Amino acid sequence: MLESGRLVAFPTETVYGLGGDAENPAAVAAIFALKNRPADHPLIVHLAPEADIGYWAAHVPDEAVALMKAFWPGPLTLILKRAAHIPPDVAGGQDSVGLRCPSHPVAQALLRTFRQGKGGVAAPSANRFGHVSPTTAQHVRDEFGEDSRLGAILDGGQSEVGIESTILDLSRLDSAGPVLLRPGKISASRIAEVIGVLPGAPDSAAPRASGTLASHYAPGTPVAIVPSARLLQTLETLEKRQRKVALLHFSLLPAGRKMALAGEVSLYCSPDVYAHQLYAALRQLDMSGADLLVVEETPQGEAWKGVNDRLRRAAYNGQGVLEFLTASGEDA
Ligand code: TXA
Ligand code: MG
Repeated sequence: MLESGRLVAFPTETVYGLGGDAENPAAVAAIFALKNRPADHPLIVHLAPEADIGYWAAHVPDEAVALMKAFWPGPLTLILKRAAHIPPDVAGGQDSVGLRCPSHPVAQALLRTFRQGKGGVAAPSANRFGHVSPTTAQHVRDEFGEDSRLGAILDGGQSEVGIESTILDLSRLDSAGPVLLRPGKISASRIAEVIGVLPGAPDSAAPRASGTLASHYAPGTPVAIVPSARLLQTLETLEKRQRKVALLHFSLLPAGRKMALAGEVSLYCSPDVYAHQLYAALRQLDMSGADLLVVEETPQGEAWKGVNDRLRRAAYNGQGVLEFLTASGEDA
């Protein structure tokens, strides 16, 4: 299917991808159309472990070689200068290209089979633009239903990591140094251990990344992040105002508490376990019919950066909704 230009969703260790032939502009256009994604947002090209990076990148800096050796296959995407013969469509017209070698065995089998491992599979997360990324095959079905533009969905079970790959921009090393475009399981300090410098934060010249928009990874229900210390009081106020609330938390709530929640998911308070379950939890709670999805604020600290980044984007605008729903007065 991929070789004939069709789209195939497949599992990776981070989230499910919506794949198409990276060198076929019609297939790339079909990905953008199915996702409803603006065509200037670049796609990541997925490669087999044996792939020739020099085919895709105009220049492969030593830092990239060291990072690939340390973290590939795995949840790290590297942005490099794009080789001239690679169609710009996949990069949203930019002069760079995002490359990643996933570790999921089904993804690897697919990439090794597609054009005998010599091709690249362009794949954004297999969800509609701005929505929560899928971590199971069922999530992909929920996103695209029976849309005939999707040729097949490969089912590889629940994604292990659960949040999207770390994205590191190495395409402007001379002018900007390494830049972390999206935090993920592979942290900035682990990257620094390999290349000797801590990656910087994106500046205004950094390449566009939709995963860096203020609102992204968002369920349909408004999301509000509430610190643990204010959680009970907030829930009680919302109950008094007869709001329908779904709750994502990790603290134990007092036993005997009689609060009617539209939905509730409790996750273990460890960044890896939390990330693994986060999107499935958001999807489940999004279907509970709640007016508001309250998320207990997660700990700070480097290991939580990826999770906190996704929660902050999901909760964009949620604070205002929380204030409105807890306000006393005639609106209640
Ligand atoms: O874990 C992942 O990265 C998943 C799985 C399927 O591999 N893919 C994923 O793709 O999250 P997507 O399209 O949802 O997010 C990819 C991000 C986007 O924010 C995109 O803008 C950025 O990577 N990106 C891709 N190529 C780029 C480039 N050449 N320059 C800057 N950003 C790029
Ligand atoms: Mg995405």
